[in-house]
Amino acid sequence: MQLLLPLLLLAASASAFNQGGTSKTELKVVPNSFFVQTSGTALTKRGLNPVTAILSDIKSKGIDYTLRQQFQSLPAAFHGASITVPDGTTADDLLAIDGVQAVWPVQFLRKPVVPLAGDEPASDSTNSALQSNPSIKTTASSLLTNPDTRNISVFRRDLNDVLERRATIPPSSYTGDVFGPHVQTSVDKAHNSGLLGKGVKIGILDEGVDYTNPLLGGCFGSGCQISFGYDFVGDNYTGENTPIADTDPYSTCSDHGTFISGVIGAVPNVYGFTGVAPAATIGMYRITSCPGVTTEDVLVKALLQAANDGCNVISISLGGGVGWLAVTPAQIVIDYLVGQGVHVIVATGNDGVEGPFFAEAPASTVNGTSVNAAELTYLPTYQANLLNRDPIAYMSPKPLNAPGAYNIYFTSTDSSITNDACSPLPSSTPDLSTRAVVVQRGTCTFDTKYANVVAAGGKVVLMYNTDDYMLPQLNVGSSGLQAVGGLTREAGLQLLAYYAVNSRSLRISFPSGPLSPAGPTALTGTADKTKGGLMSSFSGYGPTNELYGQPSYTAPGANILSTVSLASGGVGIMRGTSFAAPFGAGATALILSARSSENLSPLEVRSLLTTTASWVPVTVGSSTYETVILQGGGMINVSKAIAAKTLISPYQFFLNDTKYLNSLQKLTITNRNSVSMKYTFNSTAAQAIGTYDGSASSDVLVSTDPTAVSAASVGAKVTFSTSYLTIPAGQSKTMQVGFAPPYLTTADIARFPIYSGFVGVVGTPSTGGAATEAYSVPYFGVAANMIDMPILDTTDVALGPRYPFLAVGEDILTGTGSYARDGNLVIYFRLAGGTRRLYLDLVNANIDFTGTVPSVTNGRRVRMARRSASASPAPSPEMAASAFESWSHLEARANPVKFSDVPTIGSIYSTGLAARDYLLNFDGGFTDYELPFDGTYTTSTGGSAQASTGVSYRVLLRALKITGNPTNEDQYESWLSPPFSFTS
Ligand SMILES: *[C@@H]1O[C@H](CO)[C@@H](O)[C@H](O)[C@H]1NC(C)=O
Ligand SMILES: *[C@@H]1O[C@H](CO)[C@@H](O)[C@H](O)[C@H]1NC(C)=O
Repeated sequence: MQLLLPLLLLAASASAFNQGGTSKTELKVVPNSFFVQTSGTALTKRGLNPVTAILSDIKSKGIDYTLRQQFQSLPAAFHGASITVPDGTTADDLLAIDGVQAVWPVQFLRKPVVPLAGDEPASDSTNSALQSNPSIKTTASSLLTNPDTRNISVFRRDLNDVLERRATIPPSSYTGDVFGPHVQTSVDKAHNSGLLGKGVKIGILDEGVDYTNPLLGGCFGSGCQISFGYDFVGDNYTGENTPIADTDPYSTCSDHGTFISGVIGAVPNVYGFTGVAPAATIGMYRITSCPGVTTEDVLVKALLQAANDGCNVISISLGGGVGWLAVTPAQIVIDYLVGQGVHVIVATGNDGVEGPFFAEAPASTVNGTSVNAAELTYLPTYQANLLNRDPIAYMSPKPLNAPGAYNIYFTSTDSSITNDACSPLPSSTPDLSTRAVVVQRGTCTFDTKYANVVAAGGKVVLMYNTDDYMLPQLNVGSSGLQAVGGLTREAGLQLLAYYAVNSRSLRISFPSGPLSPAGPTALTGTADKTKGGLMSSFSGYGPTNELYGQPSYTAPGANILSTVSLASGGVGIMRGTSFAAPFGAGATALILSARSSENLSPLEVRSLLTTTASWVPVTVGSSTYETVILQGGGMINVSKAIAAKTLISPYQFFLNDTKYLNSLQKLTITNRNSVSMKYTFNSTAAQAIGTYDGSASSDVLVSTDPTAVSAASVGAKVTFSTSYLTIPAGQSKTMQVGFAPPYLTTADIARFPIYSGFVGVVGTPSTGGAATEAYSVPYFGVAANMIDMPILDTTDVALGPRYPFLAVGEDILTGTGSYARDGNLVIYFRLAGGTRRLYLDLVNANIDFTGTVPSVTNGRRVRMARRSASASPAPSPEMAASAFESWSHLEARANPVKFSDVPTIGSIYSTGLAARDYLLNFDGGFTDYELPFDGTYTTSTGGSAQASTGVSYRVLLRALKITGNPTNEDQYESWLSPPFSFTS
């Protein structure tokens, strides 16, 4: 078995085509590095601990490994080690050693991603259409941009803004909570009643923290707000060098970890925001270095350490597309820790542009919790005062650095123009130095608009929004401006109306003071009336290929105000599911703290938050609800979950596909009220969406922006085995729920419709009385057969030519040819769907076999041109830190298929549980397999052999369909290459 890891050879070749290749095997695993898991946990006969024993056995087989990490803190969780082995040592060599139960390559993990808004200003104005045009959705490339200071207010003001220090903070400092995200999720009510997460220990696994920020308590260690943790990597970890661990998780390389820390634990401050669970015991395990690199073995080490340190809750905000459950060691360890009572909360991922069936790891586990992100209903705004008018709200991380009062100047009083201030302002423009200049966004970059204002003497800019897109945080950058704030369109038009009445008397000032309160009486411009409460465009879709649901639920994750490093200004605004996960972790801590006597399990808390959540609509105010594979149970309602005395299992119903329809399921209800309750049932449909835009067979590629099927709000027909249940106090009862898929047209079914909805459970005291409890359990199913989902990409969408094909340089093979055995012959293929088994074999050219895909799919001498060459730059070294990737060779190897009538010479490559490839969002581009073939293959007995010269061969690619039977040849998609031979 050749793992084909050293694809760097390919990237170094001369062909322009290959530069910037996103061949996934190259980017996603640490060369020559493996997890080895031992089968035993007991001491061996020699009295050795089993990990020590297998490591010594590996050495004694002559494999001179370097130890990366050893996993022993909780032996039963994951007993083994990660090692780097010499070139040429394969997973098979390790698996052959007694006592080694499983082997995985060590994955790079994707740097935590903070998606920038699509309207973030770019310095490159040629890119302005993407950057500033409001009609363009947040784009793939912008989603992968590193978190950087453009996101953050860098003007420094007083950071003497903490009201209390940890040791002296009385719970009363947290009452009167009017912070938008807290009001949206009823965390405010918990805070106002003194519930702050006390007694719960939360471990954050992330990039480190600047705890010197006074808003995070200003210190580290016992008695501090950030009171425990560890640094597993140091600043310079590349994944391939030795991580330099120490006991201090301090880092200012990026603001991601500091931001997450504030979402959970910010203390009261002059801005008026706090963390969700600020009285919890909060720690940071730093697992990411300054280049943004981490590896899965470090994640597993940190998970085990956090559990060993007694964390009740673990918050993780990293991952990448995997598609399957239980593929990677981190997924396996998370499920194990949940079984041990640890609440593991993971960000769903920011790959919404990849469309459905892009479940990520480690978010996708059976028992962990996955959190998706939604937009705020109330934006972080400060109050601007207007002379003789009501104040309005503007967006900024801090009050604007603009003392005094300003006259207002609109660069255009026509709100319908689209290119406001994109050209130099006319000479008639008055001196702008004493004015707050109001500009509408659109057409050109913010930088261009700023420059035109600066050229006319302007110092303070308010940028107001176009209709459909919320302005993100803005930054003066190097524009020369003193301050810039954002206005909602509503606030901008309000200001324009005042201006139209009397421009001379309109004066504005930006007093210091806390955020404007969220709520029904919020200032004009605080409520997001266009996107408030909707799912964020970057939020990732489930389900897994097994049709297991994710996400679990949704939390606020866009336009969040939280802490950043002092060097970045102390507070900032960011977006991403990265910040929804710690919100879920904080909410979990509030529940555990409030209900400590109940000893709630992770599955119970997940169910409480999911079944009490509020359904997320598709547009503001709509009664059509987003698909469950995007919102899970919906936006969490934390006070409702705290108060909920009815526990429901399961927390979601997974109905599977048409063939495997799970039509009759149990529903267990536990009544923890002090009185007997009568429960009744109902159901509500959510929007049914198509997995494919047109049809699975013609599109092959999953939709990257799925739309509703023709009958939009159509769910399952839901029936109940009883019309009501009466459950005495403290008891449980189980009933049956029946599901029948909706009626859909043939055209809709061809799109692989995903239908979903909610089963409602309504409880009232049996003795009567008005107290009503309402819960909903999400469900979803696929009204098609997963075996029909296309697996091999046969389109030209990603690369230009149609996959699969063989090529030498830029020349695609269409007939016979002879090539040197130098690895310049490259096998290209791409996965349009996940596959449980993939075999790439060398066969004789005269084999009698017809693939499901024609041998030649491209015309003669097609030149390759990467479609998204500009959007797909060569990966920077830090971006080689890449996604979790399903790469379990185990399943494929454990039971290799013997195809009766397809004689093979040997194996070039094989894998199991492989993920669908990225189309848009892997470092701004797609992934594929580009395997250089130098004639080396693995024989059926495991030896290595070389293809002969002068013999005509083909390669045979086979990929199992999702629910296919691995031993049934007909349930594979297959491609037989054109013939070729090697020269000597
Ligand atoms: C990390 O790298 C930087 C830059 O090369 C160097 O100055 C620093 O000493 C390194 N730190 C450690 C702990 O090796
Ligand atoms: C998930 O939890 C259930 C209930 O505790 C348990 O039976 C099951 O084995 C767990 N699954 C995994 C993969 O750990």
